[in-house]
Amino acid sequence: MSATPGEILRKKRFGAELNETEIRAFVKGVVDGEFADYQTAALLMAICIHGMTERETLALTLAMAKSGDTLHMEDVPGVKADKHSTGGVGDTTSLILTPLVAACGVKMAKMSGRGLGFTGGTLDKLESIPGMNVNIPIHAFKDIVRKVGCAIVGQSAELAPADKVLYALRDVTETVDCLPLIVSSILSKKLAAGCDVVVLDVKMGSGALMETEEQATKLAQAMVRIGNLSGKHFSALITDMNQPLGNYIGNALEVEEAIDVLSGKIAGDLRDVSLELGAYILLGAKAVETMAEGRRLLLEKLKNGEGLAKLGEMIAAQGGNPKVIGNTSLLPKARYSAEVKAQSDGYVAAIQTADVGMAAKMLGAGRERKEDAIDPSVGIILRKRIGDFVHAGESLFTVKFQDSAKAAGAMTKLRQAVRLEKQPVPQPKLIRAVVE
Ligand code: URA
Ligand code: CA
Repeated sequence: MSATPGEILRKKRFGAELNETEIRAFVKGVVDGEFADYQTAALLMAICIHGMTERETLALTLAMAKSGDTLHMEDVPGVKADKHSTGGVGDTTSLILTPLVAACGVKMAKMSGRGLGFTGGTLDKLESIPGMNVNIPIHAFKDIVRKVGCAIVGQSAELAPADKVLYALRDVTETVDCLPLIVSSILSKKLAAGCDVVVLDVKMGSGALMETEEQATKLAQAMVRIGNLSGKHFSALITDMNQPLGNYIGNALEVEEAIDVLSGKIAGDLRDVSLELGAYILLGAKAVETMAEGRRLLLEKLKNGEGLAKLGEMIAAQGGNPKVIGNTSLLPKARYSAEVKAQSDGYVAAIQTADVGMAAKMLGAGRERKEDAIDPSVGIILRKRIGDFVHAGESLFTVKFQDSAKAAGAMTKLRQAVRLEKQPVPQPKLIRAVVE
């Protein structure tokens, strides 16, 4: 006899630990409707108030991971790796490290959901490449991973459907920022996707799910611990999101910046975080023995162009025009451009990353609701980073737009997003901590 919703609710209400059978009954009930939405919402609130033990969190994660289809990747030879970011602005590391890691001989099999971020998700960015198809059936996805070494596609199977129900209820019951619920939400989807090695990029700062380093570290530690208990290899980096990671924000713009990094044209924070995450993947996959060796190998693949060539192969295998890797003018371009200028001299002291993301969304780079269309061409180019000196009248941001009414709103938002100071300001530390 499995426990009833009422019994499970009462137990958690008074702070007792739920056992595995009860947690499985809950997750099954969420998917098949035996738990009504109000009962699920009540249990989520009780979980937020009382927390969950490690045993409960692991049981919840595993039950959610098995709540729908699970991908079996055993028929693709070798170690399969994946990477997950808790979400940021100008965060294009996937497009850079996926081909670089594949060029080092470790397979990257990325199945992404379509996020509701400030800009589109990785899938939307890829779709700005002419012809690119991200809606690929699983057998073809595996074929591309086997032959090319990497693929990034949309979820064609229903992975972790319990998370969809839970997340929708959390969103409207103030129960999103609850550690065991975040851990189980993120990990269940990663476990269902079937990779052996997962590196997590947990962002902290003004544009992140977790504002402080302390909160981000707690989340990373919990995810790595639960992820490793599930039998996979997990590690996490805590990285700074007190300013956009790359300088280009928008869908085609972020593809262009990724290509520029892989071509060796630009360096900087986006490249550095991509290399660091990539090195942890190589280490987790035992393709290298030390982080130093991992960094060196990735940098070699960047400098000799093999990473860029691999991106081209992946684009071609997914139906896209591989010529974009040598000619980014083939990407969609916005018709108009305008500058947001500094009102006074000063050092850039702070950038409200979330507001920059919001401005990109106002231009049409992101979506409000699942069914909304995005405009791949629009976005923002960051001209100054924290610590830079700017003269009055110099550009802080270039705005690429199609609709001047939308641009006006976005430019107001951007003007308010930057704080200048008279005194020099240090650059924020990019990689804050590592959790293994
Ligand atoms: N991202 C997720 O997928 N789930 C959460 O709960 C939070 C961020
Ligand atoms: Ca995300």
